[in-house]
Amino acid sequence: MGLPYFEIIGGPRLRGSVRLSGAKNAALPILAASILCEGEVVLRDVPRVADVASLTELLAKLGVDVEWRADGSLKLIARDEMNCRAEYDIVRKMRASICVLGPLLAKRHRAQVSMPGGCAIGDRPVDLHLRAMRELGAEIELINGDIVAKSKRLRGTEMFLGGPFGSTVLGTANAMMAAVLADGLTVIEMAACEPEVVDLANFLNQCGAAISGQGTPRIVIEGVKELHGCEYTIIPDRIEAGTFMVAAAITNGELTLENARLDHLMAFVDRLAAIGVNVEKNDKGVVVSSARRLEPVDVTTQPFPGFPTDLQAQIMALLCLADGNSVITEKIFPDRFLHVAELARMGARLRKEGPTVIVQGVKRLVAAPVMASDLRASAALVLAGLAARGTTRVHRIYHLERGYQQLDDKLRAVGAEIQRKEGDEV
Ligand code: EPZ
Repeated sequence: MGLPYFEIIGGPRLRGSVRLSGAKNAALPILAASILCEGEVVLRDVPRVADVASLTELLAKLGVDVEWRADGSLKLIARDEMNCRAEYDIVRKMRASICVLGPLLAKRHRAQVSMPGGCAIGDRPVDLHLRAMRELGAEIELINGDIVAKSKRLRGTEMFLGGPFGSTVLGTANAMMAAVLADGLTVIEMAACEPEVVDLANFLNQCGAAISGQGTPRIVIEGVKELHGCEYTIIPDRIEAGTFMVAAAITNGELTLENARLDHLMAFVDRLAAIGVNVEKNDKGVVVSSARRLEPVDVTTQPFPGFPTDLQAQIMALLCLADGNSVITEKIFPDRFLHVAELARMGARLRKEGPTVIVQGVKRLVAAPVMASDLRASAALVLAGLAARGTTRVHRIYHLERGYQQLDDKLRAVGAEIQRKEGDEV
């Protein structure tokens, strides 16, 4: 049997309500943080996506009991502290495995994590993660492609965590998770402000940590002796929310996103408003609808609260149909443009100049077989398929399934003609 793919018949206007899953990028570091806790951690709204499955597999190898319960929550208990190694096999599948580094060092005083390589969205160094661990007192060596880290008890310190592209989301998460059990006070300057970092800090605080300043560029962590377990609900996925907002807009439909948080999507909604998409909150949720004419706009990705890189591909799909020229500039991952050539196969007019793409709006997109290359690029192709004339096949959707929970089912429930099929040879 071949690989699964999506078959999409473009055209139907989407209408109805969608409940968003919990945020993948909040869930992953929070799951890793279970290594730090004594006792039971129960997480609600953990999305059932492939990346979460990869991380639970890794955590099981690291001695954490992992159990999906009948009510959909996930129970984690760290029992066995012997194994401290995250092997290449799993890290190569999912770079976010790097977020076990901080918890292992803090709790078990040693960690061996395979060095993540590049990925489809470009070079992705981890120098800032390593800097954070060193500043907290860890000794780090690179042996046979593994990061080998050791420490006695980590020491609180003041650190600057900015790099050439600004703050780092998982780097900040790792630094925070390492510092919670360190001796004394840690200050992270130029910390990432993303809602997922805030969610991790809130989770850790519920487990007995003393973190303040989350959501600002200066996070302060007072080390504590130990963390206990807790019950916690993961925030709704803002990237999934943005993806459905584009789905409503690109089909001239109207969707209500029941649990979307507009405070997590301000820059994105600002651009949608400039395009002419209506976004309003009422007592049922956030309602997104679109006028027929889409205005061209300029978009630049930035760290939060700026426009998220994880919605760059999706807004490009929408702007392909705007009435004029838009300019999209990628300031986080300058090579994150693999969707450009695939969208062009569907009739989009796009010109890439370095980290910028000029999008010349066209009247319509046409269906074509296209290939997913990374998670968000795949979502952009699905969105384009919803609007295109004809039947689009999106191949290699295993990329998409790393981060979207049942995207096909959710889209079908609001009127899309989308089927997940098996047997793809591509
Ligand atoms: C997180 O990756 C997300 N992943 C990514 O989501 C997201 O695109 C990214 O943040 C930016 O928002 C998870 O949360 C699991 P970064 P992360 O460190 O933390 C440079 C998705 O589609 N940098 O904030 O790895 C880096 O190269 C994914 O769900 C260094 O220079 O990203 C980039 O230019 C893909 N040195 C910038 O910082 C470092 O040590 C921001 O990256 C680390 C990063």
